[in-house]
Amino acid sequence: MNRNVIETTPYSGQKPGTSGLRKKVRVFQQPNYLENFVQAVFDSIDSCQGQTLVVGGDGRYFNREAIQTIIKMAIANGFERLIIGQSGILSTPAASCVIRKYGAVGGLVLSASHNPGGPDEDFGIKFNRANGGPASESQTDSIHQTTERITRYFTIDAEPIDIDRVGEIRIHDALIKVIDPVADYADLMQELFDFHSMKQLLSGTNFKFRFDAMHAVTGPYAQEIFINRLGAPKESVINATPKDDFGGHHPDPNLVHAADLVQQVNVQGLDFGAASDGDGDRNMIIGHQFYVNPCDSLALLAANADKIPAYANGLKGVARSMPTSRAVDRVAEKLGINCYETPTGWKFFGNLMDDGRISFCGEESFGTSSDHVREKDGLWAVLCWINILAATGQSVSELVQDHWSIYGKDLFTRHDYESIDSDSAAKMMERLTLSLDGLVGETYHGVSVTLADQFSYSDPVDGSVSHNQGVRILLDNGGRIVVRLSGTGTEGATLRVYLDQFIEEGFQTDTQVALKPLIDLANQLIGIKEFTGRTEPDVVT
Ligand code: G1P
Ligand code: ZN
Repeated sequence: MNRNVIETTPYSGQKPGTSGLRKKVRVFQQPNYLENFVQAVFDSIDSCQGQTLVVGGDGRYFNREAIQTIIKMAIANGFERLIIGQSGILSTPAASCVIRKYGAVGGLVLSASHNPGGPDEDFGIKFNRANGGPASESQTDSIHQTTERITRYFTIDAEPIDIDRVGEIRIHDALIKVIDPVADYADLMQELFDFHSMKQLLSGTNFKFRFDAMHAVTGPYAQEIFINRLGAPKESVINATPKDDFGGHHPDPNLVHAADLVQQVNVQGLDFGAASDGDGDRNMIIGHQFYVNPCDSLALLAANADKIPAYANGLKGVARSMPTSRAVDRVAEKLGINCYETPTGWKFFGNLMDDGRISFCGEESFGTSSDHVREKDGLWAVLCWINILAATGQSVSELVQDHWSIYGKDLFTRHDYESIDSDSAAKMMERLTLSLDGLVGETYHGVSVTLADQFSYSDPVDGSVSHNQGVRILLDNGGRIVVRLSGTGTEGATLRVYLDQFIEEGFQTDTQVALKPLIDLANQLIGIKEFTGRTEPDVVT
């Protein structure tokens, strides 16, 4: 094999964020930009010699070019087996599944998740390690450091590989396997759930279901699972063909971006609606005229896990990201299992799963999953719901309201201020952080601050400590304010303000109205208007 050593110079700013390196497509298209990052990833692996690498993505613009570059570089770096999703497709949870199933040393997932796609939009790449989960903080740090001083990368001369046909291709000593991106994942789902009773529900005439794939990666997965295996009518899956620009939409499953789905469920009187994002790891759940907050969804799934075959023997424990409401903590307490509080992002859950400490975990940002993979998994969450709906015969709203009547309700909202000036955002966070010590014991309209800190996480498995993971302000009336800057944006800064409040009655109250005093207090303490000039959030979830 003729290995070419290509000289290169570093690009600054190749620092992976909450979930890999995300930049505009045009940034990735600069000479050697992708190559530098991929080589830094390969350099961070102990040895690529003879190993297996999985490659796939959400099908967004630039996926195909990136995959051809990665194939040649992987072979030059010594990988012996490459597993590629057909047409470059692998949802994030499917990539995690495939990495684990075939004993790969890791995988490159090409996605910018729910960010828009197209020549002027976003692209992304992240490395998942052998357990199928995102690279650890220390590995991403080492990748970043390598990108800052990189001088060369390795590649070979080869014609483009046909990634549209399932089969095997040999190049030099390497075997390239193009696989059906859906089959392994669908088989895993079939092992976890009660497909028999779910099929009765979905193929029957009494239950109407709609899944919105948002022109993104879950289309083929949803068709295979819901229609082919579970017998749902064809019209159950909408926007099912992945497009490289997601049809010009924003593939983020929330009430704003999945408005078509919400409309269909409400106007047509459907029983259950769900959507997933660009790369298939997020989920939104709705019933007829009823939206399920992701924090409540996690709690409800944990409370009803005994109805799902794979979890019927009990959960080992649960975990949630710090900004996620404490609804699942109440379920854990009742079940007598541990509940871990981790920083934002999926990379912190993997260790807890590998160590057998948790079964379910989730984030307020429409992410829920279990230890069947090491990523969040949109379709898995939807299947959990269908399994529970089939087992109980209850509606979505009945299930959630029963849940609140047992555990109480954690009102929750997140306010996002997007594309704000990065320097102003940094100053605002600095001022807020400096003010924290003085906040404890202060009283605002009769409510006192009981804790105010910058959240730090000590990983109980490997002992690593992650500092500065967001500001927490806890109040003596059960209220909580969390403030952090996004780590996934590609332009300016995004401020996220998370607000939650525990209540034991008045569950029908409007969340924004009920949380108004907390929202006002947060705005005052953070100084949002003062630092950003903004008076209203851009997105409220
Ligand atoms: C956001 C979410 C976070 C999620 C991540 C990847 O990160 O808030 O929960 O894990 O996307 O989907 P952020 O932009 O807040 O850093
Ligand atoms: Zn995603």
